[in-house]
Amino acid sequence: MSALFEPLSLRSVTLPNRIVLSPMCQYSAIDGLPNNWHRIHLGRYATAGLGLIIAEATHVSAQGRISPGCLGLYNAVQETAFGEIAADLKQFGPAPFGIQLAHAGRKASTDLPWRGGQSLQGALAWQTVAPSALPHGEGWHVPQALDEEGLARVKREFVEATQRADRAGVDLIELHGAHGYLLHQFVSPVSNRRNDSYGGSLDNRMRFPLEVFEAVRAAWPAYKPLGMRITGSDWLPGEGLEIADAVRFAAALKERGCDFVDVSSGGVSLQQKIKTGPGYQVHFAEAVKQATGMVAMAVGLITEPDQAEAIVAEGRADLVAMARGLLNNPYWAWQAADALGGQVHVAPQYLRGRIRGVDAPRELIKAAR
Ligand SMILES: Cc1cc2nc3c(=O)[nH]c(=O)nc-3n(C[C@H](O)[C@H](O)[C@H](O)COP(=O)(O)O)c2cc1C
Repeated sequence: MSALFEPLSLRSVTLPNRIVLSPMCQYSAIDGLPNNWHRIHLGRYATAGLGLIIAEATHVSAQGRISPGCLGLYNAVQETAFGEIAADLKQFGPAPFGIQLAHAGRKASTDLPWRGGQSLQGALAWQTVAPSALPHGEGWHVPQALDEEGLARVKREFVEATQRADRAGVDLIELHGAHGYLLHQFVSPVSNRRNDSYGGSLDNRMRFPLEVFEAVRAAWPAYKPLGMRITGSDWLPGEGLEIADAVRFAAALKERGCDFVDVSSGGVSLQQKIKTGPGYQVHFAEAVKQATGMVAMAVGLITEPDQAEAIVAEGRADLVAMARGLLNNPYWAWQAADALGGQVHVAPQYLRGRIRGVDAPRELIKAAR
């Protein structure tokens, strides 16, 4: 029996297996609105036998968008469009539909990556906000440090986006607390230089993200799971977050009802020195899981069925998220099921593709009815 193809329940939501579509910005929205690109992109994965789909960073305000092409969930038109996509995805496959709620903080107001990804200039740019008025790097916008009123506004925006996600039929929320975006900017000493109760010690730096988590948890139905993507390391020894900080943050999230942590790393400083390689962040998920007993999602250069199977079977993580591997091969889960002896959901229209060279046996077609 393959561990990767075992279902997993989080609150009332059951993931048919442990393979997760990792959130991937598409930079293809206009005014934050999902469109046919998102329907096709996500729709492809709805029929791909995955355990969970997490849509890209979806911003809680226009100001919080990384770029003008980023998705948002801050108005009724966006809510309706998300609702239609959620209904389509769930009609054609069993994977629950999750979204990643995000605010880019000081890394907002940038151009599309294929246009260079620089900070926007002139009339296209907008004012960014952050824990402290420190730019991400040279040539980046200088953000406004959030005051009490600003903090309350951002928290309210997270809550309103959560309510919209619920009404749109979203099954699961992952808050984005990594990659140098706003919630990570609070936790990391690299970007948080405040001297009020939201800065200084780790307890103070965690305060705002934990307040956001609590507010979102209270606004999100008790039967729906809520987790966070957190930072295993800033890759700046002696200066940035380390795994021990991630463990403390995760434990505080767990106390507040967090259902899973998705452990990534990096993105808060241009000086970071990341050591990448196959499964280069799995040990972060493993450390958090061991220390807190939380459901952990591992991510980062997980590309091979045996590798993914071992991560789950050895108890290093409970879920395996993939981004680039699933861009390269959206039907990776079918091949992993073949290699590992697992079962995946296959739409009846696609059953014949599962048996190379011959027609699908009648039993398979019958089973799909
Ligand atoms: C095109 C693309 C867009 C991404 N957008 C997001 C995003 O919206 N939110 C996020 O947390 N990570 C994002 N990531 C990072 C992935 O979710 C993932 O953590 C990272 O690519 C490592 O996994 P991989 O080696 O399987 O690609 C993105 C990655 C890619 C390739």
